[in-house]
Amino acid sequence: MEEGKILVTGGAGYIGSHAVRQLVRAGFQVIVLDNLSTGHIKAVDPKAELVIGDVRNLGLLDAVFTRNKIAGVMQFAGKIIVPESVSHPLSYYDDNFTAVLSVLRAMKTHHVHNIVFSSTAAVYGTSKEPSITEEAELHPESPYGFSKLAAERLICDCERAYGIRHCIFRYFNVAGASEDGSIGEAHPVETHLIPVTVNASLTGRPMQIFGNDYQTRDGTNLRDYIHVLDLADAHVLGMKMLVNGGNSAIINLGSDKGYTNKEIVETVGEVTGRPIQWTFGPRRPGDADSIVASNRKAKEILDWSPKRDLRQMIHDDVQWRDKHPNLYGRQGNKIASEDRKRLLNYTPSRHFGAFYEDIESRDQERLKKLHETNRLN
Ligand SMILES: NC(=O)c1ccc[n+]([C@@H]2O[C@H](COP(=O)([O-])OP(=O)(O)OC[C@H]3O[C@@H](n4cnc5c(N)ncnc54)[C@H](O)[C@@H]3O)[C@@H](O)[C@H]2O)c1
Repeated sequence: MEEGKILVTGGAGYIGSHAVRQLVRAGFQVIVLDNLSTGHIKAVDPKAELVIGDVRNLGLLDAVFTRNKIAGVMQFAGKIIVPESVSHPLSYYDDNFTAVLSVLRAMKTHHVHNIVFSSTAAVYGTSKEPSITEEAELHPESPYGFSKLAAERLICDCERAYGIRHCIFRYFNVAGASEDGSIGEAHPVETHLIPVTVNASLTGRPMQIFGNDYQTRDGTNLRDYIHVLDLADAHVLGMKMLVNGGNSAIINLGSDKGYTNKEIVETVGEVTGRPIQWTFGPRRPGDADSIVASNRKAKEILDWSPKRDLRQMIHDDVQWRDKHPNLYGRQGNKIASEDRKRLLNYTPSRHFGAFYEDIESRDQERLKKLHETNRLN
């Protein structure tokens, strides 16, 4: 097994913070690199080291790789809102593609050969297969999906050229929170159905289900959901496989089971015991009837299958929101004195730093606007 730390980019975000926790539990030493554009310091496991900075900043990456022996990288950093990617493609390609390019450059320079990458079911676009396998045709339908597919391609090319091995995970719909309700989903703009429905149930605010005439058992979209801890467990298995010399793989992470939007809303109501005010809204452009993952390959290669069901995902999300009505709080990224001690300071080793500080401040401006129009935090 290769010795060294695991660098987790985006480890202060929703999925990254759960993966960091599971890595720490599995005995790995972890360094998180996050620019906190959508992440939260409070989400980062106290046993992990933390560097606040941008993953596109090659100078900073170089400093981190020089000062630490890195055995592998988990790349979660990126932007995730599909409609936003349509209006801001440059920003999405920059964060989802250029960021991966920078990480791979640093890995090549410092002879690090293992990367676990967060990809998405969006690379498949609308698929006619009842259960989508990794061999299904790839035709993303948004800049978000294309930016992830481009990054996948780059990662595969770097294996052929430089021997950097990968585990690329294509996630389906991720939901849930830690079992103790201490960390959970806290995106600045919540677009995912389970948290939107849980919020509607807890606050009494009305919500919509978009479309009721799809080719599914009740006419509403059918999707595959996976618990964030099951996803995090798969990442730990993927990294173990790579550091132990295993082969590269591209693997779906889903449950092989679908639930319709209406079933989700009904199940949230059952779990919370609080009625949900919902109505049917119009169809949204681009929503496929049904998307379900085949997880056969994950079973074969990683001996992984999901352990937590839909009710568990909803229960854990509800518990997280009940315990944290303000999520990580408006001051979630103010650096508290106890956190200050664990921050690692690196001086970027080349001149790229100033350029990326400028990009970061534009990202912060964009997020401020999103916060103002979506008062969810
Ligand atoms: N949430 C889902 O349902 C889902 C589904 C499919 C794929 N994914 C992928 O999983 C990954 C994580 O998603 P998430 O839901 O945890 O999102 P998130 O927004 O909660 O986390 C992303 C993290 O990356 C950080 N970040 C973004 N750009 C960065 C940069 N340039 N440098 C340093 N840090 C940066 C953010 O601050 C944040 O902490 C993303 O790459 C996303 O595309 C998520």
